[in-house]
Amino acid sequence: TMDDEKQLQLFDGFVRDAAGSEREGLVSSQPHLERVLEPAPRRTLWPETDRRDDLSDLEAVARAARDCQRCKLGGMRKNAVPGEGNPHARIVWIGEGPGADEDEQGRPFVGAAGRLLDRLIVAMGLAREEVFIGNVVKCRPPNNREPEPDEVHACLPYLARQIELIRPEIIVILGATALKALIDPKAYITRMRGKWIERGGIMIMPTFHPAALLRDPAKKHDVWADMQQVLARIK
Ligand code: URA
Repeated sequence: TMDDEKQLQLFDGFVRDAAGSEREGLVSSQPHLERVLEPAPRRTLWPETDRRDDLSDLEAVARAARDCQRCKLGGMRKNAVPGEGNPHARIVWIGEGPGADEDEQGRPFVGAAGRLLDRLIVAMGLAREEVFIGNVVKCRPPNNREPEPDEVHACLPYLARQIELIRPEIIVILGATALKALIDPKAYITRMRGKWIERGGIMIMPTFHPAALLRDPAKKHDVWADMQQVLARIK
């Protein structure tokens, strides 16, 4: 019945919250990364997206993305790239979408831009395994074109659910596409990078995409400055 369904949803919510508070007891190899604050409250980050409450953990989101045919990219992929990393990550990094290498391997940021992102993460004193790395769209757009609005719209529920399940303290937005998709279609990355945005209790830091740094290495200074703000927050 309807009531049973509601009770079950409440119970599910309770189980998730209990799992969330257990996390505080986890022993981290990197003490500075232990969660010191309460997890961000569970709130809807992108109210305009369809909810995927049915996806109960990150593995379920990944499976759904691998089976997905919600947009035309589903028919063109070799492998979906759902994203990967620590389900209890304090920081989530979000790029645009898979390129050729990512489509080949089914893993995010494994090409040239990915190697630069790895170096950035290590330079920050973090490890790739302790953060979560994802993308706005989970399937590769042909010829690495930008994802189209209908593709972003179809795919956003997966990212929204991933973020809801992880409940990170910080999201790093990598580049203009993710900024436009997640914050404001009229936003400019050059204007908004380096400035905190708050959404549903999560602090968001937009910065340049690593591929932009490959084209214009001078931008590395800006990204490094932005990441100092991120580090200051997780101290
Ligand atoms: N660029 C992105 O935006 N995402 C990836 O996963 C790889 C390259």
